[in-house]
Amino acid sequence: MAYVLALLASGRSKGFTASVLQAAISGAQQIVGVDVELVKLHKFEFGPCTSCFQCIRDDAHDCVLKDAMGGNGALMEKIKQANGWILADPVHCWGPSAMTHLLIERIYPLLWSGKLDGMPFASISCASNQGMQRLANKNLCKWAFCYGFRYIGGLPVHTVYLERALLEAEDLGRKLAEAAKRDAAERKKFPDGERYLAYLNKPFSVLEPYMDNLTGGTMAYENSLIAEGLENFKREEAIKLLKESRQYFENALELCKRNQAEDACTQLVRATALWTHATWKEFLEADVVKTSVPGAYRPVDDE
Ligand SMILES: Cc1cc2nc3c(=O)[nH]c(=O)nc-3n(C[C@H](O)[C@H](O)[C@H](O)COP(=O)(O)O)c2cc1C
Repeated sequence: MAYVLALLASGRSKGFTASVLQAAISGAQQIVGVDVELVKLHKFEFGPCTSCFQCIRDDAHDCVLKDAMGGNGALMEKIKQANGWILADPVHCWGPSAMTHLLIERIYPLLWSGKLDGMPFASISCASNQGMQRLANKNLCKWAFCYGFRYIGGLPVHTVYLERALLEAEDLGRKLAEAAKRDAAERKKFPDGERYLAYLNKPFSVLEPYMDNLTGGTMAYENSLIAEGLENFKREEAIKLLKESRQYFENALELCKRNQAEDACTQLVRATALWTHATWKEFLEADVVKTSVPGAYRPVDDE
């Protein structure tokens, strides 16, 4: 039996977000062999991550906080078992709600255990006033990318077209349930090379913002964090990794200029694996996390 979590992030358990989620649940329940559980996030008590990094250091990759998302906390246990999520979120301040942000922050331990790598994900962003549901939807897609979820779809909804949205949500629920069934049969991991390409046509596409961020908005190597790192880094191992990263990064820049997005992504995946390992060596290993890079973290030798 596939297990789908229908996560409600709105505090109004009979509000608009809840009604659109209910439609998605009905869709998911049409698929035989799928068990759907409605989970009202506001019923659980959990706070923000305290950055203790124990979840990275411990082999079990569990959270040490004593709340619903820590260790064997009630919500964390459900999340670990899930074959897919339908996350329904009210639009707050032109983006995802604080509740959803909190949830996303607190599944950080599962990034290190690899437990959610490849899990099917669908979301609903529900606005009823000024809007910006598309922006919120994009943000949720970004988080799905960060955690390596398989993005089944995101539904930006405004209550001005609630009836249509209910039909679309039902369809999204069905799609998510089908994907969850495949996940229950066999979880397919989602390595970076595949993931960067798969998100190219999603609401959040990684190539442009990643290149923009690394180059401070200039798309020029001279202004990049990698160039800056090569001037400022102190640790020999970090400098070595950065030097290796540089070539792939310059390739990615060149390919971006030629609008060859897929090839640029392939180069960027290699550049960023080396870049993140370099920053880990320079900053995180001794001063922040105080451990070497865990096995689940971006293999640098993925060809
Ligand atoms: C703190 C807060 C911020 C909000 N910001 C927005 C917004 O940026 N855009 C919008 O259309 N609605 C906004 N709303 C209204 C919610 O999106 C509205 O409640 C939404 O339809 C979710 O439905 P629900 O509350 O019935 O679950 C906001 C509500 C709250 C409480």
